Amino acid sequence: MAQYFENANLPSNIVEFETYFLNTKFTFKSDNGVFSKEKLDFGTRLLLENLPFKDMNGDILDLGCGYGVVSIILSKFIDAKFDAVDVNKRALHLAEMNMKLNKVTDINYFESNCYDAIDENKKYSYIITNPPIRAGKEVVYKMLRGAKDHLKDDGFLYFVMRKDHGAKTAIRDISDIYNAEVICKEKGFFVIKCFLR
Ligand SMILES: C[S@@+](CC[C@H](N)C(=O)[O-])C[C@H]1O[C@@H](n2cnc3c(N)ncnc32)[C@H](O)[C@@H]1O
Repeated sequence: MAQYFENANLPSNIVEFETYFLNTKFTFKSDNGVFSKEKLDFGTRLLLENLPFKDMNGDILDLGCGYGVVSIILSKFIDAKFDAVDVNKRALHLAEMNMKLNKVTDINYFESNCYDAIDENKKYSYIITNPPIRAGKEVVYKMLRGAKDHLKDDGFLYFVMRKDHGAKTAIRDISDIYNAEVICKEKGFFVIKCFLR
């Protein structure tokens, strides 16, 4: 079965939905073949709710950005510069539309397999991801472990993962690189904050 990020042959059926975050209304266009077509994903919302908005600025990477929810919502509340990457061209096209739809401007969306298309010298204050479990452990670990090469010394990686998708194992498997702390547990989802050892 085709994964949602391998969508070249799926007919398009663009839908639009509204969602609220911190009393602010957002509108997103979505489509077949992208993650969480109909609504803001519960795990993504939980991740956003647990980010330290007041402390966040600088350069931020929305890794596996889909149709742009994390960077678009964050950019309404914080003053930062965003890069946002995905392998899914359809999602990236939607993200560009969603940026305009929600009247935000400071997000640079581009195609990248994990960090491959990111300048090797580029460092971020925050890397944020709801990683693509269905892409397999190799991709997920490339995202999580690879963050070390693109984080400032005092930067943070935040990710969300379900306990039954291996969150505890992932924490163990990246603990040679990061201090990793579970900062929220809800309905089987863990939000994990990491900083470099
Ligand atoms: C769980 S979704 C999260 C999407 C969006 N950030 C959200 O929270 O709604 C994971 C995203 O990772 C993307 N993805 C899959 N493999 C990838 C890769 N190798 N490099 C970059 N992104 C990838 C998928 O296309 C998908 O959009």
